[in-house]
Amino acid sequence: MERFLIKGFDSKGVRGKINCSGAKNAVLPLMASSILFNDTITLKNVPLGTNDVKTMVVLLKSLGSKVQIIKKKKILKITNKKKHKLLVKYKYISTMRAGVLVMGALLGKYNKCITALSGGCSLGPRPIGFHLTGFKKLNCKYYLKQGYINILAKNGIKGGLYSFPKVSVTGTSNLIMASVLANGKTILKNISIEPEVLDLIKFLKGGGAKINFIGKRTIKIYGVKNLEGHSHEVIGDRIEAFSYLCTAAITKGKIKVDKINSKYLEAELKVLKNIGCNIKVSKYSIELSRKKKLKQAKIKTSPFPGFATDCMPMLMAVLTKSNGKSVIEEKIFTNRYMAAPELVRMGATINIKGSKATIIGKTKLNGADCISSDLRSTFAIILAAMAAEGTSCIRRVYHGLRGYSNLYNNLKKIGVNIKRKS
Ligand code: EPZ
Repeated sequence: MERFLIKGFDSKGVRGKINCSGAKNAVLPLMASSILFNDTITLKNVPLGTNDVKTMVVLLKSLGSKVQIIKKKKILKITNKKKHKLLVKYKYISTMRAGVLVMGALLGKYNKCITALSGGCSLGPRPIGFHLTGFKKLNCKYYLKQGYINILAKNGIKGGLYSFPKVSVTGTSNLIMASVLANGKTILKNISIEPEVLDLIKFLKGGGAKINFIGKRTIKIYGVKNLEGHSHEVIGDRIEAFSYLCTAAITKGKIKVDKINSKYLEAELKVLKNIGCNIKVSKYSIELSRKKKLKQAKIKTSPFPGFATDCMPMLMAVLTKSNGKSVIEEKIFTNRYMAAPELVRMGATINIKGSKATIIGKTKLNGADCISSDLRSTFAIILAAMAAEGTSCIRRVYHGLRGYSNLYNNLKKIGVNIKRKS
């Protein structure tokens, strides 16, 4: 299995520019929603290098979609010539949580689907009760049989009213996809307003769906007969952008991230500014440099527009270089501190108590052998390795390759001393 060998910077930090890829968490629901269309849809700025996109391509093909990849132009064309299969096999869900996103699309199009129950992952249990309760409000019934959820709307999906008990990103996307072709009106309350969900809404409306906000987190959807295929450019990946900005924060370097709308990460940029980073934003690029000492921070993660849980592991790594005591409270997942033990092995002082992590800095980090356990922890460990004295060997980097396109080349491009070993 691929591993990275990273030698820490001994003097000046990263230098250079990164072009942000299309957002993984936007393109996956967009790809799933292709099932709802009778003709071809075209997605541009697709992060073809991420393994989750490759998995979603295989999943859609397994259902009967025709998928054309135009690699050089980062374009995906998806055509539905025939009725899809309605069985989503476990192997597609077990490796990629986002596989659940085809449930809403299959139900929306065919009033039926049989999907493997998604397993947990290292972030903790990944339940889908909100999704299933929402589908019931749309005239669906379901039962679990041998690890597969069988869902059916006998007389077709009917519009209904559903209020999410907690904000759920893929739950919101799933319920929207199940509602756009329904008989009648659906109202969804307490929805996610993550940029990736808004991108899905924009894409579906572009195909003729009738979706309107009637409150900050409330939408009304009138079902339509069918959707017209069209082209859509995937938004930039705000989590990837934040990850690369952190390379300059932790190594006292300077980096520019292009092709990202800075309004998608205002909460996160505010934290980086408050701890001592210089940040310059324009509409589609962000520049960060750091000369001063880093100060402590106290943050809580929350749904957009709050501080993103996906950015938390990378901030935790940066805060090991801050003076004083920083406190992070993770309010979304039960087990998101998987990078902490690896950072501690490199010399960090991090105490975890329940949902809170206390980071005492500033600590000197030393290269060590590390094991990555999930997508964002991989980047957190890479950040610590580039700021450590000596060389670190990071195993199971495949977790990182799920969500970061061209990870190795991008790190090399900004001056990281990195080698990869299979
Ligand atoms: C999405 O996961 C993202 N994945 C995650 O990104 C991200 O961390 C998460 O949203 C939160 O922002 C994709 O978009 C593919 P949730 P999702 O439903 O939709 C609980 C990454 O690193 N919950 O918003 O699965 C759940 O346990 C990945 O790119 C229920 O209890 O997350 C969690 O505590 C990791 N029942 C909270 O809600 C449900 O039915 C938020 O989960 C659904 C969720």
